[in-house]
Amino acid sequence: MSSTFFLLRLLLIFSAFAISDARLAKRSAPPPQTLVIPVRQDENQIYSVMVNMSSNPSPQSFSFALTTSTGITTVAGADCDSCGGVPSYNPSASSSAQQLPQTQNVTTLNGTASGTLVRENCGLLQSNGSAWSYPNQTVTVASQSASFFSPGVSGMIGVGMAPFADTPAANWLARNPAQPTFSFGMALNKPSNFSADGGVLHWLQPDQSFYEGDIAWKPMIAADASAPSNMSSWFVEMDAWAVSGGTSSFNISQSGTQLLTFLDPFYGSIVFPQSAARAIYADIPGASKHATSAFAHSWKLPCDSKFRLTVTFGSLSTSLDQSALVVKQADGLCVGTIQEWIDASATEYLLGSPFIAVLYLIFSYSQSGDGTMGVAARAPTRDTLSRAAIVGVVLGTIAVVALLFITGFLAYSVWQRRAKKSHMRKQSKTGITPFTSVSESTSSRYSLRQQQNATYSSQAGLLDAPSNPTSPDWRATLLSAETNTFAGGTTFENGSHSGHGYYRTEVGSSSPGLIELDSPPPYVVPHSPPPVPLVPLRKARGG
Ligand SMILES: *[C@@H]1O[C@H](CO)[C@@H](O)[C@H](O)[C@H]1NC(C)=O
Ligand SMILES: *[C@@H]1O[C@H](CO)[C@@H](O)[C@H](O)[C@H]1NC(C)=O
Ligand SMILES: *[C@@H]1O[C@H](CO)[C@@H](O)[C@H](O)[C@H]1NC(C)=O
Ligand SMILES: *[C@@H]1O[C@H](CO)[C@@H](O)[C@H](O)[C@H]1NC(C)=O
Ligand SMILES: *[C@@H]1O[C@H](CO)[C@@H](O)[C@H](O)[C@H]1NC(C)=O
Ligand SMILES: *[C@@H]1O[C@H](CO)[C@@H](O)[C@H](O)[C@H]1NC(C)=O
Ligand SMILES: *[C@@H]1O[C@H](CO)[C@@H](O)[C@H](O)[C@H]1NC(C)=O
Ligand SMILES: *[C@@H]1O[C@H](CO)[C@@H](O)[C@H](O)[C@H]1NC(C)=O
Repeated sequence: MSSTFFLLRLLLIFSAFAISDARLAKRSAPPPQTLVIPVRQDENQIYSVMVNMSSNPSPQSFSFALTTSTGITTVAGADCDSCGGVPSYNPSASSSAQQLPQTQNVTTLNGTASGTLVRENCGLLQSNGSAWSYPNQTVTVASQSASFFSPGVSGMIGVGMAPFADTPAANWLARNPAQPTFSFGMALNKPSNFSADGGVLHWLQPDQSFYEGDIAWKPMIAADASAPSNMSSWFVEMDAWAVSGGTSSFNISQSGTQLLTFLDPFYGSIVFPQSAARAIYADIPGASKHATSAFAHSWKLPCDSKFRLTVTFGSLSTSLDQSALVVKQADGLCVGTIQEWIDASATEYLLGSPFIAVLYLIFSYSQSGDGTMGVAARAPTRDTLSRAAIVGVVLGTIAVVALLFITGFLAYSVWQRRAKKSHMRKQSKTGITPFTSVSESTSSRYSLRQQQNATYSSQAGLLDAPSNPTSPDWRATLLSAETNTFAGGTTFENGSHSGHGYYRTEVGSSSPGLIELDSPPPYVVPHSPPPVPLVPLRKARGG
């Protein structure tokens, strides 16, 4: 029985590969192979990769922090006195460095660095010790910096969208004009407070075995170029977020309005606009303002606080609970991962490493510089079955795969009959969800949804709600005892109204007892003065 089951899963994996191969074959050039780039994380929660610059006369080897906000690569220059003493790059010790006349300012939310530009031959270290070479890469050689470098980390590799010409993606696409896109997958491990394995990048080609279910694709929106101080070079639109839980069973959510979001593992926090973060912590008993970083305020809260953040991108909903949202510091104090921008007018959302670590992210850039971000659920830790073995077989003949596919189908029917008879049918907890990326049929979507519900059973309601960005959901807001000061926001107290039920029934059909508004109430318009609250503010929490 269990060996039949194993065989079945193996066959489904083969056929999934076969179908994606067939689809990819329609492209003009054969798709590149996946290169595995190891990511380290250090005690400062910096995720980094190794990059060698130049090779002549000898390589200069560096650890670069991974950032998706920008496309710029920055290295500490040998002449930089304010770069924190990190290992530095010396262009004059390289015969391949081409000095450019321009200077460049690079900013993070924390700090800045500036210096001249060079073009240099670089190599990104793979897990097998070889380098992925990318010659002629534009690099900013910092000659001064402030709060930019972290100990032992010599700079940043920008794998974000802009400035596109400076990205490793544009560099590779220029050298491979027949390739429609440059893509990579990101599977990071959870942040830790010690130096550890940070996960992997699947360079040039995402690895399907690391995710399951549908990929929610979101176009990357270029940040306003006229605002060079913008916090990221791109944003995607998040469809909804909700925070629920606590002793009072609160539920705060926001949807149906533009939620510009960027995801960057360079930051170890999740940062919300002030109105949203304050609404969340107002519902967590004992939470109070704690500290202020260069860009955000944090809260301290009781270590046994229990709540859950659920974020929705298209068909994908994913959530974090207190194990990621409440972090115990070395001094025993517990601090919330969700923070608020210092800038009261900021309406953007930042999802940093604690969030990215539960997902599989895909970044894909076209020859013209358009970006698309894909988000998928991370596959559970896989079997010991060697992926190299699978790839080896797939690279054999399609005929064999087709044969296996047919055998698999037959085996499946037999297995299904046997399984039904013995009432022992169980859902696979590991492995790839077959066919989901190719099939559009309702029935397979239905079965996918069932599997997602199995994975995220606690959010079954969210998955049932159609995400329709053109019809803002303003309903139910007036039922709330809470003051709601953010566009599209909804809050529930689980008091006289059963909050859980209302939200689900109001979707799509009208439910008696709910006050419906056809147009958005006059809540916050981004960058405008705060609105007049509809109901009195609740009493402030002690702290
Ligand atoms: C970089 O910043 C400095 C000081 O803020 C400014 O004087 C300079 O013009 C900027 N350079 C570029 C290329 O933006
Ligand atoms: C490392 O992997 C890459 C890509 O699969 C391959 O081209 C290279 O030859 C490998 N290097 C070694 C030392 O095995
Ligand atoms: C990178 O540089 C280091 C130190 O210079 C060297 O030992 C290593 O072999 C280089 N790696 C590759 C893949 O070139
Ligand atoms: C290096 O890249 C620039 C554009 O980024 C290009 O103009 C130049 O020709 C390239 N040089 C070489 C040697 O490939
Ligand atoms: C950043 O860019 C986005 C998208 O273009 C824009 O909506 C936002 O206002 C910009 N933010 C700032 C602070 O300039
Ligand atoms: C950015 O600032 C935060 C808080 O101020 C700090 O924890 C983090 O280490 C800083 N990151 C870098 C790269 O300096
Ligand atoms: C790391 O976290 C653990 C528990 O989360 C804590 O016991 C330990 O003291 C922390 N170490 C440092 C260096 O902060
Ligand atoms: C919280 O509210 C959202 C939407 O308002 C809903 O989809 C979700 O099911 C609710 N969660 C809980 C735990 O009630």
